[in-house]
Amino acid sequence: MTQGTHNRDKFSGRIAFVLAGAASAVGLGNLWRFPYFAAKYGGGAFLITYIILVMTLGFSLMIAETAIGRKTGLSAIGAFKKFGRKYAFIGILVSLVPIVITPYYSVIGGWILKYLTVFSAGNGVSAAADNFFPDFITQAGQPIVWTWIFIFLCAGVVFMGIQKGIEYLNKYLMPALIIISLIISAYSLTLSGALAGLKYYLIPNLDNFGIKTVVAAMGQMFFSLSLAMGIMITYGSYMRKEDDLERSVRHIEFFDTAIAFLAGLMIIPAVFAFSGGEAGALNAGPGLMFITLPKVFASFPFANIAGTLFFILVFFAAFSSAISLYETVVSIVSDHFKWRRKKSVLVTGVLIALLAVPPSLGFGLWDSISIAGMTILDMMDFLSNSMLMPLVAVLTCLFAGWWIGPQVIIAEVSESRPFKNRKLFVFVIKWVAPPCMAVIFISYILSSLRIISF
Ligand code: PHE
Repeated sequence: MTQGTHNRDKFSGRIAFVLAGAASAVGLGNLWRFPYFAAKYGGGAFLITYIILVMTLGFSLMIAETAIGRKTGLSAIGAFKKFGRKYAFIGILVSLVPIVITPYYSVIGGWILKYLTVFSAGNGVSAAADNFFPDFITQAGQPIVWTWIFIFLCAGVVFMGIQKGIEYLNKYLMPALIIISLIISAYSLTLSGALAGLKYYLIPNLDNFGIKTVVAAMGQMFFSLSLAMGIMITYGSYMRKEDDLERSVRHIEFFDTAIAFLAGLMIIPAVFAFSGGEAGALNAGPGLMFITLPKVFASFPFANIAGTLFFILVFFAAFSSAISLYETVVSIVSDHFKWRRKKSVLVTGVLIALLAVPPSLGFGLWDSISIAGMTILDMMDFLSNSMLMPLVAVLTCLFAGWWIGPQVIIAEVSESRPFKNRKLFVFVIKWVAPPCMAVIFISYILSSLRIISF
């Protein structure tokens, strides 16, 4: 047995757990990938598929991860090891995910901070200029300084601990995030030409619907719910036994999906209004956030206010996700080396700050380092999102569904309240989730080899 659960930080209650899970889940995935996928893959048809997947597959995976964490009271490596040494390798693979993601996610966090300052200083028009983004990210100094500021802010919150840091922040940040999302959606829907976008987003279009829709929705779902990253295991380990685990998971799913839906309402109508109804103007990723949207805002009234609000929202979403990643790394480090939180935060912070340098420099000074046209940041993203996470997801399903068996998870969930959807859980975790996760794994590899595309 590894070290016990005594003295472990705990969330003060169910709401705190739900807010932390939701804060982690609501991230760049919701804002810059969900709207694009929804528009591309059949509007309402994608939305319905996505919601069904969240309520079945996402639900089962999140239940499994949270229960593994709560049962063992440990972060990923220790948690898997507690069921037998032979399972430790899953914990090690899981732990690699946040170690790879945190540095490059922080680089993007740094860019967001930069844009936030530009818009809030009233210079939104300059951010909309054609070369603003490439000129900025190819510099050596500035992007790294912003990245380090972002890492420093995350470290500060994690340093304060679960209740005084993460919980306290989420109590203000999550309601603010909802309010800002509603304001921007309302703004976006009132732009002239927005209605065409709204229709495109909501009305099911079966011409664009197909097997790819389902695969895209599945991949998006498990990224968006922060699964297969060790986060829910760590957060589960801070959850009290008396708190209703099943209901909490349902609430996190709802929160995450609601914000993703609102992101579509914010972004699709605005881009349609800007492009005169051209669906092709909508893209995903950094291109959407740092090139298209600044242009969209700049072309409408209240550009600086709308842009500032929008980048505050993006910052909140990215910040709270990054904190959950950071916390996951810290808890792995402190469980493993038996260090106190403060020491683990400092050591982890320095490590992440150093690991963030290559993906930041990869756009300028070190742009010669690339494989198959991928920058260093893309490579890290590929390694974590396309390789490690689907692999970890397959292993977690096999672990919960077959190796230790669903009864272990059911017993843990039932510690607080009877597990209402346990039949659904057993069926999905044994028979549906493993092949689905394997399909994601294979299709990501095929898409990176450019045999298929999303
Ligand atoms: N759920 C997050 C999102 O949608 C994914 C994520 C979580 C990424 C934590 C990084 C860190 O963006």
